[in-house]
Amino acid sequence: MTLRLPVMISGHGSNLQAVLDAIEQRRLEVEIPLVVSNRRAAYGLERAAHAGVPTHYAPLRPYTRAGGEGREAYDRALAAVLRAVRPDAILLAGFMHVLSEAFLQSVGVPVINLHPALPGQLPGVKAIERAWEQACAGQRHETGVMVHEVVPEIDAGPVLGTATVAIEISKGFDAFKQAMHRAEHGLLIDVLSRYKTPSLSSLETT
Ligand code: GRF
Repeated sequence: MTLRLPVMISGHGSNLQAVLDAIEQRRLEVEIPLVVSNRRAAYGLERAAHAGVPTHYAPLRPYTRAGGEGREAYDRALAAVLRAVRPDAILLAGFMHVLSEAFLQSVGVPVINLHPALPGQLPGVKAIERAWEQACAGQRHETGVMVHEVVPEIDAGPVLGTATVAIEISKGFDAFKQAMHRAEHGLLIDVLSRYKTPSLSSLETT
């Protein structure tokens, strides 16, 4: 059964590309019916268009500026756009807004997030940079990446998979960052290849 998985991004989209490549190479039984970005210039939108995947640009600013309908209205509008493509689940791959409980309830399917830190460590932005700083200060020797289901708390929620990455100071920050992104791409495909939404798994047992 093909998993219908719209993807939400804000930037470079290398994780989106990893999923698109795995689909093309038939390593994943996933269909991406839509890629949503809150940033018009996100390179991931070009990656989606190149793969023939429809895109949607959803800026927050019109909702939060004076006279706008507010943040929750943005989340509701976003949820409606996603519901319209009948998702089995939604993937956040570098989407940089925290989504409200109203969004999570309104989409009515699991939302999956990728975060460049291990469970319970370094929630929020710049997790890769903070892990590096801690390593330089002698406070850690490794970090990692995780894929988890989204709950209202930031970068928390049931963990679907993790991968540990050693921090080798002598190789420099860029090499570490690349190792983190490689780990993310690998973990994401691994988790998605075994992922079953509650509805899909109940269908399989009948
Ligand atoms: C990744 O590090 C992801 O874990 C974080 O944002 C980054 C997105 O990278 N949430 P990309 O846009 O997929 O290249």
